[in-house]
Amino acid sequence: MLNAAKDLLSPSRRSDVPPFIVMDVMAAAAAREARGERVVHMEVGQPAAPAPLTARRAAAAALETGRIGYTESLGVPSLRARIARHYRDAYGLDLDPARVAVTTGSSGAFILSFLSLFEPGDRVALANPGYPPYRHILTALGCEPVLIETSASTRWVLSPDALIAAHRKQKLKGVIVASPANPTGTMMSAAALAELIAVAEDAGIRVISDEIYHGLDYAFAAETAAKLSPRALVINSFSKYFCMTGWRIGWMVLPEPLVRTVDRLHGNLAISVPTLAQIAAEAAFDGRDEMEAVKHGCEENRRILTEGLPRAGLDQFLPVDGAFYLYANIAKFSNDSLDFAKRLLNEAGVAATPGIDFDPVDGRHFLRFCYAGSTAEMREAVERIGNWLGRG
Ligand SMILES: Cc1ncc(COP(=O)(O)O)c(C=O)c1O
Repeated sequence: MLNAAKDLLSPSRRSDVPPFIVMDVMAAAAAREARGERVVHMEVGQPAAPAPLTARRAAAAALETGRIGYTESLGVPSLRARIARHYRDAYGLDLDPARVAVTTGSSGAFILSFLSLFEPGDRVALANPGYPPYRHILTALGCEPVLIETSASTRWVLSPDALIAAHRKQKLKGVIVASPANPTGTMMSAAALAELIAVAEDAGIRVISDEIYHGLDYAFAAETAAKLSPRALVINSFSKYFCMTGWRIGWMVLPEPLVRTVDRLHGNLAISVPTLAQIAAEAAFDGRDEMEAVKHGCEENRRILTEGLPRAGLDQFLPVDGAFYLYANIAKFSNDSLDFAKRLLNEAGVAATPGIDFDPVDGRHFLRFCYAGSTAEMREAVERIGNWLGRG
């Protein structure tokens, strides 16, 4: 009887996904702060700045009017039109607003895109290292993530050759690309992205492009996959460039035949995205000056770290083209990035994320630093790390 009762409560096998380790680092950092100790936060990938004032004002005004109801499943038409206009302004692409779907962050878009493109058992390629929820969500939906190792010779991004080699071994149904990428911050040139998409589509592999860090590109301008192929499914978000992580709002640019599919799925799964967030997001496009100032702050932080960390002892990191991450090799100090991150927090007061979150194997040799905080914090981090490693 006891066992039968226990069975009633056992979770499904597919729900057995690993945790996002950065959350554990956050909790340890918060505990340290609660004890009154100083922490420089470089663990979580979110801007320190709030949403632009235009967004906050629009949300406040909407609250005053009282009723916040459901919206169309694919999003408020004026927001979809504003997002489409963004593609003309930022990339010179004329985009039909009918192809835009508003989602609960890019996280919500992953679920919708994987459900609309893949069957259980389908194999989907990802660059390793990469953003952990890609593989965890795919696994929970019964798909098989296929990690493809990247190397310095391809700027740590997926190469067409590596993709096709994996496809020849066992058929792939899809591939997820991200430029700028998390945790590496590396980017693909427009030509490299175009070649990867062409090769993938030629082989019958569906392309999903996670463009959440667009706008935060320092080395060169990021290209959207929407401009390169009408078949690519593009995912983006208001979380990073627009500084709206907690508002939980993002979007997809869908290949035209998938619009009704996503409409039906989203209507059933969530009805619609929170209305207040949609109102704020539309107004966020008018807060460009504030967002550009945040971007310039990140660019300055990037300079402080790329110049300061080598002096502090961390002199091996991947190209820092975009986003707000620096992925540093710590192999000369440790083979255990989880332990190294714990000691860095406890002994130096700097919170960073162990690489094993992003790469189950080689990640033990890496730490990810998020540089979306203030420039003063970045200088302090460099000094603390240098003192801790005996280079101060
Ligand atoms: C590469 C990448 N994609 C997607 C997300 C999810 O962001 P959100 O759901 O807030 O849009 C993140 C968050 O850090 C990320 O780094």
